[in-house]
Amino acid sequence: MNMLPSIPGIATFHESAEGLTRLRVTSPLATAEIALDGAHVTHFQPADGAPLLFLSRSSYFAPGKPIRGGIPICFPWFGPCADRPDLPAHGFARIRCWAAESLAATDSGRVTAIFILKSDEETRALWPHDFIAHLTVDISRQLKLTLEIENTGPEPFQFEEALHTYFAISDVREVAVIGLEGATYLDKTDSLKVRELGSEPFRIVSETDRIFPANKATCVIDDPWLRCQIVVEKSGSQTTVVWNPWIAKSAAMPDFGDDEWPRMLCIETANTGTDAITLAPGSRHAMSTTISVK
Ligand code: BG6
Repeated sequence: MNMLPSIPGIATFHESAEGLTRLRVTSPLATAEIALDGAHVTHFQPADGAPLLFLSRSSYFAPGKPIRGGIPICFPWFGPCADRPDLPAHGFARIRCWAAESLAATDSGRVTAIFILKSDEETRALWPHDFIAHLTVDISRQLKLTLEIENTGPEPFQFEEALHTYFAISDVREVAVIGLEGATYLDKTDSLKVRELGSEPFRIVSETDRIFPANKATCVIDDPWLRCQIVVEKSGSQTTVVWNPWIAKSAAMPDFGDDEWPRMLCIETANTGTDAITLAPGSRHAMSTTISVK
């Protein structure tokens, strides 16, 4: 694995006891942590603010296992693989080790790190295409992630993707999600039935697993207990996914505490299902999410 030089006092690489390499950022603007396994942002906290990302205390932190919380990268498929349900859920990007390609900081403390994942024999055994994935993580008072996929092979390919962000909130029963009013969704908790949200901000009252196709809206999590609004802006993304496992599903997940579900909500910037991306040889597609707090 390549390892770039750290930027002393601002952005430093560390080996954890479990064998994960992490980039730790401590700048005047924010603190953040990114594991090279999965190019997974596990922590982001703007200066003078609270942590914005939820991370389960029961998560695995081991090479080849997905981390429960933060921002997993789903690629090249979302959920179970359509043709091969034996393959890892949400693709292999979140369980492969990415390489740190560049690291830079400005005088004001803005840190930009780029991670890459390239196809190899192991990825081709799971998905027979050549690609390079770049993840740019831009850390300032806000967090911006850009996932860029390039088709480096001779044939077109189709892929799904998600920046599967777990937000830390006070209590999922108290927050409202603003921005999806009137939107059409597929309900994964009810055989993908097509439904429509009402005109009020959306509240979570039970297990929620909803895919909003053809939806470019900015979402805001209004958290009255934390007295803040988390703003999720996106570009290059046609799908939004909203997920909270609620009680029974939490109890069934070995890497998630039974009592943790009230404190998290996933709002995922994605391209899935009918919004899957087709890339011609030599072309690229970029999808970004920007997270900030008001
Ligand atoms: C969501 C899916 O994005 O991720 C859910 O819509 C899924 O169906 C959830 O349960 C968590 O997936 P995983 O593979 O990380 O347990």
